[in-house]
Amino acid sequence: MTPAIRADLLSDTLTRPTSGMRAAMADAEVGDDVFGEDPTLRALEERVASLLGHEAGLFTPSGSMANQLGLRLHVGPGEELVCDSLAHVVRAELGAAAVFSGISSRTWVAPRGLLDPRQPLELMITGVGPYQVCTRLVVVENTHNFGGGTVQPLAAIRTLREATSGAGVALHLDGARLWNAHVASGVTLGDYGREFDTVSVCLSKGLGAPVGSVLVGSTEHIAEARVWRKRYGGGMRQAGVLAAAGLYALDHHVERLAEDHARARRAAEAFAAAAPGSIDPATVETNILVMDARVAGWTGAALAAAAAEQGVRLYAVGPTAVRLVWHLDVDDAGTDLAIDVLTGLLGHPHR
Ligand SMILES: Cc1ncc(COP(=O)(O)O)c(C=O)c1O
Repeated sequence: MTPAIRADLLSDTLTRPTSGMRAAMADAEVGDDVFGEDPTLRALEERVASLLGHEAGLFTPSGSMANQLGLRLHVGPGEELVCDSLAHVVRAELGAAAVFSGISSRTWVAPRGLLDPRQPLELMITGVGPYQVCTRLVVVENTHNFGGGTVQPLAAIRTLREATSGAGVALHLDGARLWNAHVASGVTLGDYGREFDTVSVCLSKGLGAPVGSVLVGSTEHIAEARVWRKRYGGGMRQAGVLAAAGLYALDHHVERLAEDHARARRAAEAFAAAAPGSIDPATVETNILVMDARVAGWTGAALAAAAAEQGVRLYAVGPTAVRLVWHLDVDDAGTDLAIDVLTGLLGHPHR
């Protein structure tokens, strides 16, 4: 029999709506959003746009759709975007930029996904006529998922913004977990958001809503994205029930992300003590911990399977790398269990 999972650290997308959130959804005032008549959805779009310092917002069913709508606003078929090689838009959106928008992508390699503005600036090519692909967009991810929840420094973003705007290259922020970056760094959402032409944020990760993301940008960009969302089949009707969950999450679940960050750091310290070299706790800035199990002789898949046997689920994100993600449904007891199980496994090298 498969053992029951008692601490599920696979992803922060696993969260289930709380009873307060479900009550807010049940009470939501709704209308047909394709006709622009859902007041709750409109309120969410306006609130998120204003938080991020932008004119308008568009609700989408997923972060991938919000990103893909954003990318196509800036890059035409046969033109390119550049981003780091671990970015979600190139690693986990199944080639959508190429499939739907004919976009070419090039990447730079960034340890932990940490932004060094010199790297995109070296990669970008503009104004080279019909001989080389023209760079139209740089994508930044904050926090960086596969990089281990890395927070991008505002100074690096500002340096990039200054150089790219001079070169006529747009900036898109994949801010699926921008809430975590804001809580960890104290930088306001608006200070991050205003440096970008478009920003996508997710409500369904650490914030705990069951569905939904928002793309923000200028009024013109969002009007164009609304047309493309309908074309992609993403026009929704009484989606105010979903927006109500997002509004509830903004009221109740942003500041509490600090608890997830503290639990992730506590676990990182325990893992570093049990298997020195597997993780540097100082790099665990938010709710994601990516550790290298190689030092204790484990492959990622073997460690994930052994942990699951003892009730802890995590994700093998590479041959020897595993990822653990803290969220609303993992408390101190779940964290203690994860620490006990993993320090036990890491302390007994796997040969
Ligand atoms: C950084 C990042 N961007 C975008 C997404 C896409 O979100 P969705 O799964 O809602 O399409 C994810 C999902 O995990 C993510 O981690």
